[in-house]
Amino acid sequence: MESLANSRRILVLTGASRGIGHATVKRFSSAGWRVITCSRHAFPEGCPWEAGPEDHLQVDLSDAGDAERGVGELKRRLAGGPLHALVNNAGISPKGANGERLSSLNTDLDLWLQVFRVNFFAPIALARGLFEELRRGKGSVVNVTSIVGGRVHPFAGAAYATSKAALAGLTREMAADFGPHGIRVNAIAPGEIKTAILSPDTERLLAPTIPMRRLGTPEEVAKTIYFLCSDQSSYVTGSEIHINGGQHV
Ligand SMILES: NC(=O)c1ccc[n+]([C@@H]2O[C@H](COP(=O)([O-])OP(=O)(O)OC[C@H]3O[C@@H](n4cnc5c(N)ncnc54)[C@H](OP(=O)(O)O)[C@@H]3O)[C@@H](O)[C@H]2O)c1
Repeated sequence: MESLANSRRILVLTGASRGIGHATVKRFSSAGWRVITCSRHAFPEGCPWEAGPEDHLQVDLSDAGDAERGVGELKRRLAGGPLHALVNNAGISPKGANGERLSSLNTDLDLWLQVFRVNFFAPIALARGLFEELRRGKGSVVNVTSIVGGRVHPFAGAAYATSKAALAGLTREMAADFGPHGIRVNAIAPGEIKTAILSPDTERLLAPTIPMRRLGTPEEVAKTIYFLCSDQSSYVTGSEIHINGGQHV
C-alpha cells in the first residue's frame, strides 16, 4: 500500500458513507485516485470502492479527542507522503423531536456546539493536522458549505446555518494562510441535493421555486468537487461555488 501511496493521487474525504460523499468517492476512484474515507460507522458496504475497507477510518468528528486521534491515524496511513486533496464533507443538520426546524430561540447550546464540532472545527483540525502532507502534495482543500450559510431556510436550523456561514469564512481565511504554501482552499455550497439530509417535503415545496425546477443530484456535486481538486482549477482559491440550480439568485 505504501508504494501505491507514492504513485497515486490521494484524497482524504470525510462523510463518505452516503449522499454527496458516496458520489464523490465514486468520482475520484473512477479517475484512479486512492480515497481514504472517514465517518462514524464501519466501512459502508453500500459504497464499495477499490481498497475501501483498508482505507476507511471510523471516527466521530463530533468528539474533538476522537477527531485528533483520526488526524494521527491519517498521518500514519499517509506515512509522510503527499496528500493531494482533503474534502471536508461530513456534516450534520439536527431537527427537533418531531422533525421540526430548530431556531435560534430553541436550539440547545450543547447541540449547537456539537454541530459546530462536526461542521466547522473538524475541517480546520484536519486541514491543520494534515498541513505538511497537503503542502507536499500541492493539495486542494474543499469545504462543503451550504446555501443556508447565507440565508434563512425553511427546514435547516440555526446551528447548521451558522456553522456553514462560519465554514465559508474559514475558507476565506484558509485560502489566505495556505495559499503561500501552494495549497488551494475552496468551498462548494450545495442547494437542495437529493440525499438523506433533506427534509421529506423539500422536493414538493422547494423544487418549484428553483429556477431549474428540480433538486440536484449527488453526482452533480461530486463533479464540481473533482474540478476543484484537479488541475482544471489551478488558479482558483478562496472561492465558494454555488451548486443549486439557480436557487441563490
Ligand atoms: N443534501 C443537501 O441538499 C445539502 C445541501 C447543502 C449542503 N450539504 C452538505 O453536504 C455535506 C454532505 O451532505 P449529505 O446530504 O451527503 O449528508 P448525509 O447523506 O447526511 O451524509 C453525511 C455524512 O457525514 C457523515 N457524518 C455525520 N456525522 C459524522 C460525525 N460525527 N463524524 C464523522 N462523520 C460523520 C455520515 O457518515 P456516518 O453516519 O457513518 O458518520 C455521512 O457519510 C454536508 O456537509 C451537508 O451539510 C448538503
